[in-house]
Amino acid sequence: MKRLLGVMGDPIAHSVSPAIHTAAIEALGLDYEYLPFRVTPERVGDAVRGMRALDIRGMNVTVPHKERVIEFLDKLTPRSEATGSVNTIINDNGVLIGDTTDGEGFLRDFEMIFGPVRGKRALLLGAGGAARSVAYSLAAAGCGITIVNRTSEKAESIKSMLRRSFDDIFVEIGYNISDSVNNSDFVINTTSVGMIHPEETPLEGSYLRKDLGVYDIIYNPPRTRLMREAESVGAATANGLGMLVNQAALSFVSWTGKRPPLELMFEAASIALF
Ligand code: ATR
Repeated sequence: MKRLLGVMGDPIAHSVSPAIHTAAIEALGLDYEYLPFRVTPERVGDAVRGMRALDIRGMNVTVPHKERVIEFLDKLTPRSEATGSVNTIINDNGVLIGDTTDGEGFLRDFEMIFGPVRGKRALLLGAGGAARSVAYSLAAAGCGITIVNRTSEKAESIKSMLRRSFDDIFVEIGYNISDSVNNSDFVINTTSVGMIHPEETPLEGSYLRKDLGVYDIIYNPPRTRLMREAESVGAATANGLGMLVNQAALSFVSWTGKRPPLELMFEAASIALF
């Protein structure tokens, strides 16, 4: 009998997760089916409890429920506990475990492109939910972090979370953007600036330099203004498609115990998106 997997969010129609996971399920010939579920905020509890009743093996959780689902789960992994975010639920014989693979998915893609982050410094633009997960995984891997955000309380909150989670890390709030960029090896955009309005950028191009690695977690559009301006000074860039695929792959392993084919997942994501 087929086992069920899915993703819950609101809206969900444009999620590319079903395409990514279905490509992996088919390539490996597994007896699973992955479905999108539109779940409105007031139904999150019902939906999560329904996983036990319907024996749904796993669920991805996306906007706007990543924090809200937590109260309905039995256990959290340390990284979910620390970041206060769940993107993956694993149903272990009725015990629902919350995990987040966003940060680790980011880190795997990032290190594949830019090399090991241990001992390096990253400038994180933004301090929302995605930034929390990215910051946690960077810090866990030994990367120093400078956070710059429009709302400084949210940057402070990430800084405190990192200090609680890790003994020996460098983390600061950046108040002078020029110094913050100059002291960094990488710039990572976790804000939504440049997504809806492609003419906008979270960082003025004049701050960019050739030896920076610039990662934008936005994947649509695939080349943001930040990336274009970074490329024009000779800097290496990457968009967030690899993070999307890698977070999916990590969830997939948790549910099925099988390593999925990343290349095929990339292809499926690209086809679904563009
Ligand atoms: P996500 O889950 O994708 O991280 P989020 O939690 O809403 O989404 O966070 C969005 C991030 O983009 C925040 O850091 C937000 O800044 P604030 O904390 O000040 O709200 C940032 N952001 C969104 N629009 C922005 C804008 N126009 N200028 C600067 N920062 C912006």
